[in-house]
Amino acid sequence: MSDQIPVTFSEQDCRAIYSVIRSRRDVRSEFTSDAIPDDVLGRILDAAHHAPSVGFMQPWDFLLIESVSVRRRIYAHFQEMKQRADMYEAGRANLYKALKLEGILDAPLNVCVTCDRERTKGHGLGRQSDPMTDLYSTVCAVQNLWLAARAESVGVGWVSIIDLDTVKQMLGIPDHVHVVAYLCVGYVSRFRNRPELEDAGWEHRTPLQKLIRFDHWDNRDEDRAARFFVDADVPR
Ligand SMILES: Cc1cc2nc3c(=O)[nH]c(=O)nc-3n(C[C@H](O)[C@H](O)[C@H](O)COP(=O)(O)O)c2cc1C
Repeated sequence: MSDQIPVTFSEQDCRAIYSVIRSRRDVRSEFTSDAIPDDVLGRILDAAHHAPSVGFMQPWDFLLIESVSVRRRIYAHFQEMKQRADMYEAGRANLYKALKLEGILDAPLNVCVTCDRERTKGHGLGRQSDPMTDLYSTVCAVQNLWLAARAESVGVGWVSIIDLDTVKQMLGIPDHVHVVAYLCVGYVSRFRNRPELEDAGWEHRTPLQKLIRFDHWDNRDEDRAARFFVDADVPR
């Protein structure tokens, strides 16, 4: 049996990848309570486990939280944190209060993705020059999980309005293990066209040509950058 994999994907497969990337959303308002079958969850976690990692360290663990009582405790903590984080001026403060920023109890599953900062797998390759790379690797796993979930019609919402030490304590996570992401995971009634924060008038997407520089940080050429996108037929 050959262990070659194709260099080129079919046009249909290629478009499917872009379509998944463009239609992925952070979900918090649209979760249904439908359980995720084990095989679907297995594929999503397997996609996460195939993320790149520094030195092939694979520093992640996936703590699956189904227990309603555990999720209630996390939710109570989130509510406290959301109130504490309200440092906005009048208009934005009202908008902030009205935003739904989690789906901890709405989604049937929460996943805490962690990074074991002392894992010896990978023999330290690549981490000597940048010790943050184990965390970056774990974020790559989160993104793989998010995209695979979207391909399976499963929504994911990232909750960062939590105190990491408190959540670690609640979940019994050891000191040397860092909580990278607390995710709400479940089927959805719909995926929005745009980010929920954009729909709510909180923030908009920056035009990409404003973020491209050439050869030197100070060298921005928006006209040149805009030409990249004239014919770019990105599926929606
Ligand atoms: C590291 C990280 C933390 C986030 N934390 C939260 C959060 O606490 N609550 C929330 O509602 N969304 C959170 N989000 C989701 C962003 O708000 C969302 O990605 C952004 O608005 C763009 O929307 P989209 O993901 O639907 O494209 C987080 C996203 C990332 C990458």
